[in-house]
Amino acid sequence: MAKEFKRYLVTSALPYANGPVHIGHLAGVYIPSDIYTRYLRLKGCDVISVCGSDEHGVPITIKARKEGVSPQQIVDRYHELIKRSFEGLGMSFDIYSRTSSATHAATASAFFRKLYDEGKFIEKTSMQYYDEEAQTFLADRYIVGTCPKCGNDRAYGDQCEKCGSTLSPDELIDPHSAVSGSVPVKRETKHWYLPLDQYEGFLREWILDGHKEWKTNVYGQCKSWLDGGLQPRAVSRDLDWGIPVPVEGAEGKVLYVWFDAPIGYISATKDLTPDWEKYWKSEDTKMVHFIGKDNIVFHCIVFPSMLKAHGGYILPENVPANEFLNLEGEKISTSRNWAVWLHEYLEEFPGKEDVLRYVLCANAPETKDNDFTWKDFQARNNNELVAVLGNFVNRALVLTQKYFDGVVPACGELTDYDRATIAEVGAVKASLEANIENYRFREALKDAMNVSRIGNKYLADTEPWKVIKSDPERVRTILNVALQITANTAIAIEPFMPFSAAKILAMLAMEKFSWERLGAMDLVEAGHRIGKPELLFEKIEDDVIQRQLDKLAATKAANMAAEAAQHVEAQKDTIQFDDFQKMDIRVSTILEAEKVAKTKKLLKLTVDTGIDRRVIVSGIAEHFTPEELVGKQVLVLVNLAPRDLKGITSSGMILMAEDASGKLRLLQPSEATNNGAIVG
Ligand code: MF3
Ligand code: ZN
Repeated sequence: MAKEFKRYLVTSALPYANGPVHIGHLAGVYIPSDIYTRYLRLKGCDVISVCGSDEHGVPITIKARKEGVSPQQIVDRYHELIKRSFEGLGMSFDIYSRTSSATHAATASAFFRKLYDEGKFIEKTSMQYYDEEAQTFLADRYIVGTCPKCGNDRAYGDQCEKCGSTLSPDELIDPHSAVSGSVPVKRETKHWYLPLDQYEGFLREWILDGHKEWKTNVYGQCKSWLDGGLQPRAVSRDLDWGIPVPVEGAEGKVLYVWFDAPIGYISATKDLTPDWEKYWKSEDTKMVHFIGKDNIVFHCIVFPSMLKAHGGYILPENVPANEFLNLEGEKISTSRNWAVWLHEYLEEFPGKEDVLRYVLCANAPETKDNDFTWKDFQARNNNELVAVLGNFVNRALVLTQKYFDGVVPACGELTDYDRATIAEVGAVKASLEANIENYRFREALKDAMNVSRIGNKYLADTEPWKVIKSDPERVRTILNVALQITANTAIAIEPFMPFSAAKILAMLAMEKFSWERLGAMDLVEAGHRIGKPELLFEKIEDDVIQRQLDKLAATKAANMAAEAAQHVEAQKDTIQFDDFQKMDIRVSTILEAEKVAKTKKLLKLTVDTGIDRRVIVSGIAEHFTPEELVGKQVLVLVNLAPRDLKGITSSGMILMAEDASGKLRLLQPSEATNNGAIVG
């Protein structure tokens, strides 16, 4: 039997304050959490939703170093940006806090200290990479080297982004420090560990036996972690950014970010209300963590073990983690700028907050990774929001204005068809509720949209615009029913599209209804005067979508160029001075250039080497036009053995530089030089 809860505590993964929020974050975590919270609020439940910025950890320090600013400056900037853009999208957190707050430092320190005092940690020394030049221990992310699996020479100590392998710093070939570039040494360091192995029994019973209802992706990941055997996990780090380990002799050590961040949920609740304990310490509270799949182990294994070790706290009732959202078929990447950023969307699509909320929910990666495409965004807006929801609401309101001067007509006798329609609307509530309460938000959204779909069909079938001529009384009933369905639409879509729900209510000139009224057919009273109808959604044209696609194409081109530019061939084998001396390289001028007939690549060049005039055949026709070469000074290897190419004897070689993308460039003396001048 399902347990009854008195209140709800909804948490959403604290975004790292090292970059803006993108559609992947939204679809995976924040849209579902906001739908869930708004639904519970509409139902009149005691619910709080907490979130905030995750401001510690290595990602922040890396970003700061890259930009040459302090970590504090980074987190200040992104905290503000993220907070504002969440507000812009209508995220209804009761508090959006931050882990650099004083409350959080005190809460996290006290949490650590209690576990420390009670002997819940083990202390271990280990050998870790240390940068002697920068005098700092190196987080795994700060060690760069060659990936043993794919040969990528810019793999990190924890991961290779090229082939996706998880790595440890010891596996890297030629490890060096990303801080100073020097070769790191191993040095002994002491850390505190939470012995997760000791919590295995508790976790198995709590999750594997007790929460079989969790989503299969979440349950499955937990099971595989538990079956793989848990190891003690370090809860401290050698880093100069974070909450200092509150223990003597721990200078230079901070709490590991994954220890402090989830405690941020507690600190945020404290910042929200002095009554925070009832949310965290009462078995009557249902706590739900909204996260992405990369956070599962921390929210299902590590944090619960921390809470258990501490004692007195409740555990999450569910952790409905989502999979990932891709963008136009490719993995979203902050570092490669492959994303649709929330703050940019809000700027570029003002008034279309609900369109994004709708599309991201309709495409939420609930059971598998999913793809966001701009074409789909456009199609869903035009075919679903405009053509169904917007069209229905508009017709109901406009016809009421037109036939009844904006005064809600009374409902007369209902036909069987009216009754069937009303029953259909009435059936939505149970399904919608079951879907939201079981975290099936895509299905829930379909239910919510069904209300207007039913309404749209009702108007199309009853055709009040025709009936008005023969039977105006009947039209009163039709529009009364249509207006009731319109009001129902406002209730049903509120958790998903709060802006549009508010607009519908404003157009109906009605106050917000409680959730329990969903399905009712007496929401709008006869005689009530409605407001002015406006369009709920507008069509999105091709050029708007094309602009977004162009923007992505530009990003892709920039990334390819940047990646190519970083690829450098390894050095060739050593040669002796004599070997070099054998090469006779001269400054020469290209006198004539022409394409070699029936070839794509070859140019026949006549050059003045100072020694003589000679012909060189060069495979550069795809890189240079004959015209741009004539008159240019170049460097020529003149004593290369002649060879025949397409019946032409080539005597020498023009020196060129080939960049990482394969583009060729001429090598020229920095000033005009006499032909025949020796290069060496
Ligand atoms: N900052 C983490 C991420 O973006 C999430 C932290 S969730 C918390 O993956 F529980 F630790 F707060
Ligand atoms: Zn690799």
